[in-house]
Amino acid sequence: MSIILPLIIAFKSLMTSASSEYGVLEFSNLGYDGTYYQVSELNDPTSDSCSCAIDTDNPVSFSGSNAPLNEELSVHFRGPLILNQFAYYVSENFDFYSSSSSSNKNWSRQAYFSGSDQIAENVTFLTNAGEDSTCLGKALAYADTDGISLSSSSRILNNNTLINSDEEFAIFSNISCEDSGINNDCGVYRDNIPAFHGYYGKIKLFLFEFKMPNESSVSETNASSYNMPAIWLLNSRIPRTSQYPTNSSCSCWRSGCGEFDIFEILNTTDVEDLYTTIHNYQGTDDIESGLPIYGYIKRDTSSVMKGGVLFDANGTAITFLSENVNFSSSIDATDLISWIETEIDSDGLKTRELSSVDSTTDSDSSESSSNQIHIQKSLMILNLLLLFFLIFK
Ligand SMILES: *[C@@H]1O[C@H](CO)[C@@H](O)[C@H](O)[C@H]1NC(C)=O
Ligand SMILES: *[C@@H]1O[C@H](CO)[C@@H](O)[C@H](O)[C@H]1NC(C)=O
Ligand SMILES: *[C@@H]1O[C@H](CO)[C@@H](O)[C@H](O)[C@H]1NC(C)=O
Ligand SMILES: *[C@@H]1O[C@H](CO)[C@@H](O)[C@H](O)[C@H]1NC(C)=O
Ligand SMILES: *[C@@H]1O[C@H](CO)[C@@H](O)[C@H](O)[C@H]1NC(C)=O
Ligand SMILES: *[C@@H]1O[C@H](CO)[C@@H](O)[C@H](O)[C@H]1NC(C)=O
Ligand SMILES: *[C@@H]1O[C@H](CO)[C@@H](O)[C@H](O)[C@H]1NC(C)=O
Ligand SMILES: *[C@@H]1O[C@H](CO)[C@@H](O)[C@H](O)[C@H]1NC(C)=O
Ligand SMILES: *[C@@H]1O[C@H](CO)[C@@H](O)[C@H](O)[C@H]1NC(C)=O
Ligand SMILES: *[C@@H]1O[C@H](CO)[C@@H](O)[C@H](O)[C@H]1NC(C)=O
Repeated sequence: MSIILPLIIAFKSLMTSASSEYGVLEFSNLGYDGTYYQVSELNDPTSDSCSCAIDTDNPVSFSGSNAPLNEELSVHFRGPLILNQFAYYVSENFDFYSSSSSSNKNWSRQAYFSGSDQIAENVTFLTNAGEDSTCLGKALAYADTDGISLSSSSRILNNNTLINSDEEFAIFSNISCEDSGINNDCGVYRDNIPAFHGYYGKIKLFLFEFKMPNESSVSETNASSYNMPAIWLLNSRIPRTSQYPTNSSCSCWRSGCGEFDIFEILNTTDVEDLYTTIHNYQGTDDIESGLPIYGYIKRDTSSVMKGGVLFDANGTAITFLSENVNFSSSIDATDLISWIETEIDSDGLKTRELSSVDSTTDSDSSESSSNQIHIQKSLMILNLLLLFFLIFK
């Protein structure tokens, strides 16, 4: 009994990790030293013998604050959602908690979209509407002005465009990639896609003005993510090979090249709770579940929301909403701090400190999934033991 009991308590607390509402969500100690595998081959995408390979002989190393999210990122949106404005900023130095505020440099805007003014600077709208493939899913293509249809050239998203449940588009920079190739600047990517760089930088800031209204046109039975909007970041290598592959060798996601979910509804029960989650191996083997912050920001289904995510120099990543946010070409360091601090003062801060990991002990996909099964089996055996104990005691 004394052995079994603590395990049961641990299991129970996993199941009932209740969370509540906050103004600001934060990861600290974000970034670790590790590796991932890049895709080296994408073969016969449209045939049944479609296959991919990852380059396990030459792992890509990353290290330091925010890694691997210090690499280039693409920005992704799922409906129901209307995107009014988007901006990406960099700063020479910014540490949210630094005591010497003079070392914090102002933010300079490097990309901007406005739906109402039809401005798209350093912004390319892409969507998975290209060639279909058995192992890769649909290829990236230019998005038409509705965000989701195929276009033959780059278009600006229409003012007030609503995408529905399950519908997605993505934003990349307007800097074209070199040709596909393992040693080229964007690595290997899918043939004939419009291939653009993601947004670079260890220290970066993404801001959004958006609406997430309740779903009103698609029925619950017809959507796999009914009324579950999201805004998230991917290592931009992922969508250029395959965002939703059937084989994990078709993307660097499985080996941990990086995903950051900024604002995400996780299920159809809690449709007003926006969660922040990272998916990599910084102290976990379970990349599917990822590492969430145990708290949420409220989704306002009837009004416009403004906010985003900040990655600072010291591995602090902060997700926030604030009506004070604006999209000026330059943002004073002190203004950004005051937007965030105002929300912390009024609605609280939830922090998750990530564990320090020196190197990836194991980023191999088959290993980590078998670990998963192993853990599940042990829990099952434990439960059976408990059942016997209760019945025969
Ligand atoms: C940097 O982050 C670490 C770990 O989260 C924290 O302990 C430290 O106080 C931070 N340092 C500064 C200067 O913000
Ligand atoms: C995925 O692709 C790899 C490399 O081509 C192959 O070895 C593996 O068997 C494939 N896995 C599945 C589940 O198809
Ligand atoms: C930031 O911008 C403000 C004006 O908007 C200026 O007064 C200040 O000197 C700038 N700070 C830095 C570090 O450039
Ligand atoms: C965009 O939509 C807003 C709100 O509906 C409207 O006020 C604005 O005039 C529109 N802009 C353009 C360029 O149509
Ligand atoms: C990319 O966007 C910037 C900012 O709007 C613009 O100056 C530049 O000409 C664009 N480059 C291309 C290749 O479209
Ligand atoms: C556009 O974004 C890319 C990727 O972060 C960056 O390298 C480039 O400098 C930006 N262009 C402009 C004009 O700011
Ligand atoms: C689901 O979609 C199908 C095909 O578009 C449509 O015919 C059907 O009416 C939809 N079902 C509901 C419950 O809306
Ligand atoms: C919905 O997701 C939240 C956050 O993970 C969780 O607390 C809640 O239990 C989930 N609800 C259901 C019914 O799965
Ligand atoms: C959106 O749906 C939620 C859950 O059903 C509900 O509580 C909320 O009032 C709805 N929002 C609007 C604007 O109707
Ligand atoms: C942006 O917000 C800051 C402070 O919140 C303010 O000082 C600045 O004037 C605003 N800029 C614009 C263009 O509204």
